Amino acid sequence: MHIIHHTTELRSQVKKWHMEGQSVCLVPTMGNLHEGHLALVDRAKQLADKVVATIFVNPMQFIQGEDFDTYPRTMDQDSQALSERGTDILFAPEIDEVYPAGLENHTEVSVPAMDGFLCGASRPGHFNGVAMVVSKLFNLVHPDTAIFGQKDYQQLLVIKRMVSDLCMPIDIQSLPTVREKDGLALSSRNGYLSEEDRKIAPALYQQLTDIADQLKSGNADFTVLEKTGQEKLKQAGFEPEYLSIRRQSDLGVAEKGDKDLVILVAARLGSTRLIDNLQVSI
Ligand code: PAJ
Repeated sequence: MHIIHHTTELRSQVKKWHMEGQSVCLVPTMGNLHEGHLALVDRAKQLADKVVATIFVNPMQFIQGEDFDTYPRTMDQDSQALSERGTDILFAPEIDEVYPAGLENHTEVSVPAMDGFLCGASRPGHFNGVAMVVSKLFNLVHPDTAIFGQKDYQQLLVIKRMVSDLCMPIDIQSLPTVREKDGLALSSRNGYLSEEDRKIAPALYQQLTDIADQLKSGNADFTVLEKTGQEKLKQAGFEPEYLSIRRQSDLGVAEKGDKDLVILVAARLGSTRLIDNLQVSI
């Protein structure tokens, strides 16, 4: 695996592949890789001739007071894991390389159709930061395909909408959430959980599966299901931010008659913010 830190080198390597007719799949990450990230790499290898993974803790997508400084950075283990899974290039730039003109007054990419609600409401500006860095990576790599996890369902829809609105010639693929045996979605932030909170954490997914079961058995009282779910999370020790039943296609509030739904949740456990979601078709 070739580790690249500079955009010029990245561009010239990828250009060579394109001229040889090789297809490229991009796997953007912020590192501290787990099996969820590595499943994306495995899929990327099936989708294209060459795989470019990126590790960049993007300051633009962290809101003031969030964990940018303490976000786990584990480059040595990450590059070993990526290499073992057959990644061709790891692009791991410094901040100046990605934002040579600084962060102030930077051009913005915003996707209002998918922002301002759910995580967009609690983390204002977050999705602009994501859209910004992902479009930079798209412009640097010109991938044929890029792959994202359904774990970050709203982020996935932000990116799909951006690609569609800006006519970017990139096929966006996604993979289901990889979970621990007890149901907890793998996340770089799980490492923040205390031993006690780690035992409580699977209740988040349990709530999602309980609501999915109710939906499948014909309960269409979405508001009651959301409220009861939030109450149960509080009882388990969470501080819920939102628990919402939405349409899979556009995250619109679910209404009677909608068939393809997604239940999304964000909640704090101690000082750790966890998100999860579950798609359900009724
Ligand atoms: P990060 O949180 O590192 O996640 C990188 C990719 O891995 C995302 O597409 C995310 O949805 C996926 N992922 C995370 N946990 C997963 C799991 N348990 N199962 C399956 N996929 C999982 O998301 C970001 O980084 C950033 O916002 C980024 C897109 C890289 C832009 O900076």
